[in-house]
Amino acid sequence: MKIGVLGTGIVGTTIGARLAQLGHKVMMGSRSATNEKAAAWAQAAGENACHGTFADAAKFGEILFNCTSGVGSLPALELAGRENLEGRILVDISNPLDFSQGFPPSLTVCNTDSLGERIQATYPELKVVKTLNTMNCGVMVDPTLIPGDHTVFLSGNDAEAKARVMDLLAEFGWQRKNLIDLGDISTARGPEMLLPVWVRLYGAFGNANFNFNVVRAEQTPA
Ligand SMILES: NC(=O)c1ccc[n+]([C@@H]2O[C@H](COP(=O)([O-])OP(=O)(O)OC[C@H]3O[C@@H](n4cnc5c(N)ncnc54)[C@H](OP(=O)(O)O)[C@@H]3O)[C@@H](O)[C@H]2O)c1
Repeated sequence: MKIGVLGTGIVGTTIGARLAQLGHKVMMGSRSATNEKAAAWAQAAGENACHGTFADAAKFGEILFNCTSGVGSLPALELAGRENLEGRILVDISNPLDFSQGFPPSLTVCNTDSLGERIQATYPELKVVKTLNTMNCGVMVDPTLIPGDHTVFLSGNDAEAKARVMDLLAEFGWQRKNLIDLGDISTARGPEMLLPVWVRLYGAFGNANFNFNVVRAEQTPA
């Protein structure tokens, strides 16, 4: 599959490398066609990898990953160009974190709205699927880093898009029983609001090798 990865940070490079390793054709996008981090990533990731601008990557991919900063997500999509987003699935991994006042970061949007919803509302031509934002990027692409069952949430309006993203998560190694479809894109509020907890767990543990796990009682007939 041809996939566009928007973002040159640790999430973009980690997701992009894993997708290329799995045999997908991956283009990484950034604000500049000559971004040094993107060029180094493409060199290291091999023949399935290339890079360009946000617009180049959006045009290239049938599925796009949003791995840009929370404050940069809407500007990056604007640079990608509405005409290049038509019909694309956008796997939205971003978090609306504001580090401008130091640590811990605050959320730029919460409670009655979310970044996932703002992206979907701004770009109705996209099929936004919010997922993977509640864990470190190493865990996203290799869930075996954490022993036992642990959870990845999905939120989005388009059932077929969520099913395709679930297939990609399975390629990363996620077990189907650990994928929780929360519902439409408004359900992205909860996973985004888990970030203040995630950040404090990171502080308490001193590393990012953990994840949330939802434990349920056995299903009983109604
Ligand atoms: N670190 C993790 O493990 C982790 C886990 C879960 C979720 N997340 C979320 O994943 C996202 C990516 O995180 P990250 O640490 O890899 O990267 P990041 O440093 O948060 O973001 C880097 C990317 O954002 C783009 N960007 C920044 N400001 C921009 C602007 N004003 N306009 C357009 N683009 C802009 C940069 O573009 P250029 O390439 O042009 O510089 C770059 O590609 C974040 O939203 C983060 O909260 C991270």
